[in-house]
Amino acid sequence: MIELNKIYCVDCVKFMKNLPVNFVDLTVTSPPYDNIRNYNGFRFDVEAIAKELFRVTKKGGVVVWVVGDKINNGNRTLTSFRQALLFQEIGFNVHDVMIYKKKNTPFMRSNAYTNCFEFMFVFSKGKPKTFNPLKVPTARNGIEFVPVNRGADGTYKKVKKELKKEKIKENIWEYAVGLGGTTKDRIAFGHPAVFPEKLAEDHILTWTNEGDLVFDPMCGSGTTCKMAKINNRKFIGVDISKEYCEIARERIKKVKIQKKLC
Ligand SMILES: C[S@@+](CC[C@H](N)C(=O)[O-])C[C@H]1O[C@@H](n2cnc3c(N)ncnc32)[C@H](O)[C@@H]1O
Repeated sequence: MIELNKIYCVDCVKFMKNLPVNFVDLTVTSPPYDNIRNYNGFRFDVEAIAKELFRVTKKGGVVVWVVGDKINNGNRTLTSFRQALLFQEIGFNVHDVMIYKKKNTPFMRSNAYTNCFEFMFVFSKGKPKTFNPLKVPTARNGIEFVPVNRGADGTYKKVKKELKKEKIKENIWEYAVGLGGTTKDRIAFGHPAVFPEKLAEDHILTWTNEGDLVFDPMCGSGTTCKMAKINNRKFIGVDISKEYCEIARERIKKVKIQKKLC
């Protein structure tokens, strides 16, 4: 039996083969794309990962795949798109293609606009079973006269209506990055590519309910698992690197203390 709420140090394909079918509610993960960073020299097999993810994801479950591209001699690899097409071929529904915009981006190019985003592909196994949309305040609200159906004389009639106070957020999500933005945990930066805690949390709140199981097969410093724990979801994290698993365990252990402080 697989124990929940734990970090496992193992190859994620090997690990997933021991998970039952239709087991995971949500995966939020980021692969080591294009060898942009050196994750202690580990490689990964995206096709095998996608196939296992499809098997272990519940019907209506979601996989959020956060990925960018490398630029080789001025040529974007488009690895992101290739991976998305692969997930689709394997059977996932491409429910959405979202953007993770970095507020304070360090990736400058001298002959192109500064790249400030990564993709967040939202793959689902059939129709997503949970959608708790994040909302933002509307620019105008309260009671106003608003135009309704056009009358026979061609003019619009106006009626008094209560405008909504909130609307569903758009699919470009912006986060500050670096210490204090990505996370306040200094220890996390022992990993070279941490994604923002808020990014993981926003997806967890959107695609799951309390008690659901959140998975990260390449969990690095443990961001997804930490945010799952804070939000009363179960979690499983896997990383092939012992060093990163230790960082993840440390961060998760501190969750209770951090919760009390804020
Ligand atoms: C982009 S990082 C993930 C960072 C993470 N989202 C965070 O916030 O810290 C990708 C991770 O995949 C891990 N990895 C690479 N190949 C793997 C494999 N076959 N199985 C499990 N983990 C793997 C690397 O060690 C690395 O930590």
